[in-house]
Amino acid sequence: MNYENAVGYVHSMLGSTLHEGDVAIDATVGNGWDTALMADLVGAEGVVYGFDVQSVAIDVTRSRTSGCPATVRLFLHGHESMTECIDPEHVEKVKAITFNLGYLPGGDKEISTHVDTTRRGLNDARTLLSPNGIITVVCYRHSEGERELAVVRELLSLWTQEKYTVVEVSFVNQRGNPPIVFVVSSRSNELTNTIVR
Ligand SMILES: C[S@@+](CC[C@H](N)C(=O)[O-])C[C@H]1O[C@@H](n2cnc3c(N)ncnc32)[C@H](O)[C@@H]1O
Repeated sequence: MNYENAVGYVHSMLGSTLHEGDVAIDATVGNGWDTALMADLVGAEGVVYGFDVQSVAIDVTRSRTSGCPATVRLFLHGHESMTECIDPEHVEKVKAITFNLGYLPGGDKEISTHVDTTRRGLNDARTLLSPNGIITVVCYRHSEGERELAVVRELLSLWTQEKYTVVEVSFVNQRGNPPIVFVVSSRSNELTNTIVR
């Protein structure tokens, strides 16, 4: 387990969730680190979808994942249109979906995720998630990021507890304004039935 920082925490979650043959989505591929990890974890039988609005991010991610055994499908599209790009056979079969919000490290800070598209992306992600799947969201604390954090927190707090567990992780002893991580776990169908009954 690596709980040293937000990204390490998310990678630990992915490591304990994804297995050979799974389907995963990186909603913000950026420099491709999360995509490459997912592609290693799901292996040759697995599929990873990746989205970004910048061609530089898609290109870097394509080369970073070129040696990975998994099928990696990259889209130069915002994650708000992810449902249009996912193979119908993978709907409600996606084991892990990551959102690493904000701007591309080392890139143009003006090209950043945005509250409206993030909200749509998260709502769409929910429709694709499998039982026992996870959605992770890393929120940064620059000025637009604070607004986005508030919107993400509010949105996720409304997701019904009969179907989802939502955890907020903050690194309380880190200097500066460390990112906040949300982890959404979808319950298994059996557990949902037990709770509703
Ligand atoms: C913090 S970076 C992601 C870092 C990445 N996960 C990694 O491992 O390197 C955020 C990325 O989100 C992308 N982005 C901005 N708006 C987006 C949208 N609507 N849909 C998908 N990606 C978006 C940016 O272009 C940027 O590359």
